[in-house]
Amino acid sequence: MRISIIGGTGDLGRGLALRLCSGREIIIGSRDQKKARRYAKLYREISGCDDINGTSNATAAGTSDHIILTVPASSLGPLLEELSETIKEGSMVVSPVVPMVKRGGLLHYSPFDVKGRTMSAAEFIKMALRRVDVIAAFHTIPAKILGDPSVKGFSYDVLVAADARDSFKKFVEIFSPIEGLRYLYAGPLETARQVEALVPLLLNVGTNNGMKYPSMRVV
Ligand SMILES: NC(=O)c1ccc[n+]([C@@H]2O[C@H](COP(=O)([O-])OP(=O)(O)OC[C@H]3O[C@@H](n4cnc5c(N)ncnc54)[C@H](OP(=O)(O)O)[C@@H]3O)[C@@H](O)[C@H]2O)c1
Repeated sequence: MRISIIGGTGDLGRGLALRLCSGREIIIGSRDQKKARRYAKLYREISGCDDINGTSNATAAGTSDHIILTVPASSLGPLLEELSETIKEGSMVVSPVVPMVKRGGLLHYSPFDVKGRTMSAAEFIKMALRRVDVIAAFHTIPAKILGDPSVKGFSYDVLVAADARDSFKKFVEIFSPIEGLRYLYAGPLETARQVEALVPLLLNVGTNNGMKYPSMRVV
């Protein structure tokens, strides 16, 4: 099982690499191949997993059927243009991407606007890549918690938007188990807007109540 993490040198990429590497091959993608190799080595040392390697984003995207895009929302347009020919048809592309802006001391959800059509980051990816299975997930999971292997005992829900329930099931098979995470099916990809929009809300609640890494669980 091979998973490529595009932008895998960032906080969420690190967290997912460290928590997913057991029993899987992880490819860390970066705009800078040397940086990717450096981070892959660091993740191997931290996790004890042998099978974490670094390369360019393009190579990472082209060598796996399971791709996670852990990059800022602002980079998606040019990045997807660069990778659209490389990503294999039928690949699973997972988006944790949250487009948001800070205004008046508050974070606000800021979906994409394509010729007057408002869309989530996940829908934007689906539009750009077409023949892939886009899954929206991991938005509300704090990267700093995932990325610190000494932190255990957390219990968070991951709301997952996917066009078909079978895609959700496939996602769960591939991305389980991460101890402490429970995957819940939110609905078709259009529900990614609602899931993504939870993040600025959670972060505002965190700021206003002195909570450093707010997350969520459905009860
Ligand atoms: N941080 C969290 O707690 C968290 C939780 C859930 C979801 N998310 C979402 O996950 C995504 C990644 O978050 P993050 O905190 O890991 O972000 P980050 O650390 O700021 O960036 C991740 C990586 O993206 C790459 N990158 C930066 N600018 C780029 C550009 N213009 N073009 C292409 N690649 C670029 C960089 O890798 P290279 O320099 O190596 O190319 C960077 O290491 C975001 O969309 C965020 O909304 C974050």
